[in-house]
Amino acid sequence: MKTSQPEVIGIASGKGGVGKTTVSVNLASSLAQLGKKVFLFDGDLGLANAQIALGLKSEFNISHVITGEKSLNEILIEGPKGITLIPGASGVKQMAALSEIETAGVVQVFSELRGDLDYLIIDMAAGISPSVLTLMEACHRRIIVVIDDPSSIADAYGAIKVITQQSDREDIYLVQNRVQENDRSDILFHRMNNVCMKFLNQSIFSLGAISEDEFLLEALRNKKTIQEFAPSSLAARDFKFLAEKVLSFEPLQQVEGGLEFFVERKN
Ligand SMILES: Nc1ncnc2c1ncn2[C@@H]1O[C@H](COP(=O)(O)OP(=O)(O)OP(=O)(O)O)[C@@H](O)[C@H]1O
Ligand SMILES: [Mg+2]
Repeated sequence: MKTSQPEVIGIASGKGGVGKTTVSVNLASSLAQLGKKVFLFDGDLGLANAQIALGLKSEFNISHVITGEKSLNEILIEGPKGITLIPGASGVKQMAALSEIETAGVVQVFSELRGDLDYLIIDMAAGISPSVLTLMEACHRRIIVVIDDPSSIADAYGAIKVITQQSDREDIYLVQNRVQENDRSDILFHRMNNVCMKFLNQSIFSLGAISEDEFLLEALRNKKTIQEFAPSSLAARDFKFLAEKVLSFEPLQQVEGGLEFFVERKN
């Protein structure tokens, strides 16, 4: 049994529809393909995005764990390519509007996660609601997905700003999604990094880019990950690079007594 803590990675964007679920599912499957044990949590508690993307159905979900009806282990479902999904609460209306305290309950539930697990990836809901911020704050590392579009850039900056103001954690990583063949993704990263340094006194890190690739949509339609559906596609290559970068993160500092998800607030 592994005794070290799994690394918890939150994936957010501010703006909806820019690729959080795509990045979450395919990063998870690419890490699994590299031999890591990965759990994927559908943090989009209202709509259960990742669950739908993976074509999985479940009778029980995180809401049953919060109410104490089930243990976390009882709701896990095995997805493709070694990913284990922690289902969000699809269709459970009140879950969409979880309070900060209740979200903290979700985070607490994760402290049950021990043993043979390397990564927990959290696919966040769109926006920067208190529940998204609480979950993001509880992660060891935060990835912001952005596309080269003014409203996505503005929302990504907004998300980085509130995350930075809310906690002392400094590890915010940017992934640019839907990059066209001849685009240079480092331009947008440097622009955003400069703005963050100037106005937030905070630099961010680049995790590179994911190409615009219609195979991603096809893979989704076929309820498969890109690695399964089109292993030699541009997107499969990009996700492999992304997973390798994630693998090369500095090791987490070990915390006495196991998992420690909460970080201190600045206020
Ligand atoms: N790199 C890409 N190339 C082509 N299509 C993409 C790419 N990334 C995402 N898409 C498509 O864009 C759409 C939205 O992506 P996705 O569902 O991942 O976004 P999201 O940020 O999770 O959305 P929401 O905010 O609704 O949860 C999907 O149809 C997806 O297939
Ligand atoms: Mg989504």
